[in-house]
Amino acid sequence: MTRLVAGNWKMNGSLAANRELLRSLSAVSGVEMVICAPFPYLAQLQKRPEGLALGAQDVSEFEEGAYTGEVSAAMLAEFGCSYVIVGHSERRALFGEGDALVGRKAVAVLAHGMVPVVCVGETLAEREAGEVMSVIGRQLGAVFDVLGRASMRKVVVAYEPVWAIGTGRSASVEQVAAVHGDIRAWLEANGIAGDEVRILYGGSLKPENAAALFAVPNVDGGLIGGASLIGEDFMAICRAAADAV
Ligand code: 13P
Repeated sequence: MTRLVAGNWKMNGSLAANRELLRSLSAVSGVEMVICAPFPYLAQLQKRPEGLALGAQDVSEFEEGAYTGEVSAAMLAEFGCSYVIVGHSERRALFGEGDALVGRKAVAVLAHGMVPVVCVGETLAEREAGEVMSVIGRQLGAVFDVLGRASMRKVVVAYEPVWAIGTGRSASVEQVAAVHGDIRAWLEANGIAGDEVRILYGGSLKPENAAALFAVPNVDGGLIGGASLIGEDFMAICRAAADAV
């Protein structure tokens, strides 16, 4: 599977800063690159380096209508998004999104021909309580329940341990290997073959640890926060993904 590296800019950027950042990005062969920008900048990103795909960071579960402040999947598709992050831990923790809502958002994304990037991952307390896979199984299960097997094959899964996000402290190679192996086993147990769904790792992924993390079995790419705002760092991560065997 071609690895996928997605930059999640989160709520960062400005017209000027984005212009500068885009200048330092270019396609790397052998890896799929995606920029997940804040909604207002999707228009600006209509013009972007060739070979870079566009994504959004969230979407409404609703089709259209009286939902003030929401952005529909149809709108994202119209602006050329091909990926949409759903269920990022920041949305779950700060905006009260639950498993069922994340599932409905994934449905909306697929209905408009885009790929949901379904984020899963445990908090530190859940890890210390030995609940890593029960949490992730619940999060994945909620999406599987509404999508069914055929549509579940079209998603990308992103494992983002909450304690590793924005902390500078990524999960270790051993921890990532264990969880990605467990997620793969979960997918296979639900009838989804190993080469059908990509599993990304996210959480303090940076140039210094990218090669080691991409070399881990079942790590099919990365979801990059902070380092995706620094052009040369994002490029170095993409090159590491392309070079990993
Ligand atoms: P950081 O790379 O800043 O830790 O963020 C990861 C993330 O949340 C990507 O979605």
